[in-house]
Amino acid sequence: MKGVRPVQVVEAVLADIGPYLQQVERQLRAAMEDSGAEAQAIALHLIESGGKRIRPIMTLLSGRVFDADVERVVPVGVAAELIHMATLVHDDVIDEAATRRGRPTVNSKWGNHSAVLAGDCLLARALVILVDKSTPEIVRIMSDMILRMCDGEIQQKQSLGRLDQTEEDYFRRIEKKTALFFAACCQSGALMQGASPEQAQALYEYGRNIGMAFQVVDDLLDVSGEAEVVGKPVGNDLAAGILTLPVLYLLQQTGMRERVASILGQGPATGEQVRAVLELVRSNGAIEYSRQVAAGFARRAQEQLLGLPAGEGRELLALIADELLQRAY
Ligand code: IPE
Ligand code: IPE
Ligand code: MG
Ligand code: MG
Repeated sequence: MKGVRPVQVVEAVLADIGPYLQQVERQLRAAMEDSGAEAQAIALHLIESGGKRIRPIMTLLSGRVFDADVERVVPVGVAAELIHMATLVHDDVIDEAATRRGRPTVNSKWGNHSAVLAGDCLLARALVILVDKSTPEIVRIMSDMILRMCDGEIQQKQSLGRLDQTEEDYFRRIEKKTALFFAACCQSGALMQGASPEQAQALYEYGRNIGMAFQVVDDLLDVSGEAEVVGKPVGNDLAAGILTLPVLYLLQQTGMRERVASILGQGPATGEQVRAVLELVRSNGAIEYSRQVAAGFARRAQEQLLGLPAGEGRELLALIADELLQRAY
């Protein structure tokens, strides 16, 4: 596996755990089959719109570190993706987003009312699957993670538009809203395969660091990316008042807080104001800085793997960290 180029990672993952990922897809489709027509249609819309399935992949690969047969881990991966789908549906309601994954959001197609309820259905279904197919410890890990994710989102709401927030505030926020989800997936995948508490903890830390890197890259793309590539409009975060790492880095530079404050003024930012701030972000080294921060998290993730059993699972987890950073360019 060593020396495989990042672009080939997806293929390498499919070659290794492809059949289990197909099981994840089948079980995702089956998950809402006994629900009403609209809930089913919404679930199908979400499943068919794609998505990277990064959480099931991380869950399965973490289990793969301990045993090549990851059949038992599949339902946990399914539950993780259902929880993810639920959070995206709710997030798009909150953000009033019109597109996701290059397609209309559930809220734009079915309205907020249905979107909120469908998100609740997906979440509840995920918990039922976990209760039936995992362990009380894993139900606890996932429920606790959901709790903290919601708390992180509330914190983000309170920090909207505040130019006095620090990078530390940002890191605490993204840890809750994204990184702990990755951590819970990796830890749970390991526990399903009989990993020791120390091994499961190493994977938790791997997941947490990967999740941090993942969110930093995602936030970076909102500043530097092309709408067609990212699958959603860029500058979204800033337009919504969410200050991410590149912007917070800019604000630390001499005179920039005042300059950005005067560009943004009061009230919701216009497209022109957002573009002006993004221009400053791009021309003041904030993109490069954020890439370095992401690389630091990815490296720390890889370090966590060193004490785990060597093999294809561990190799693939290490490669995913490399692959993630490629998204930032
Ligand atoms: C989007 O997650 C939400 C974040 C935590 C940034 P993903 O980037 O995993 O979304 P999909 O499932 O691939 O669309
Ligand atoms: C996604 O958050 C939802 C959670 C992680 C809880 P964002 O609003 O940052 O993600 P995108 O940009 O819509 O995918
Ligand atoms: Mg959003
Ligand atoms: Mg959001």
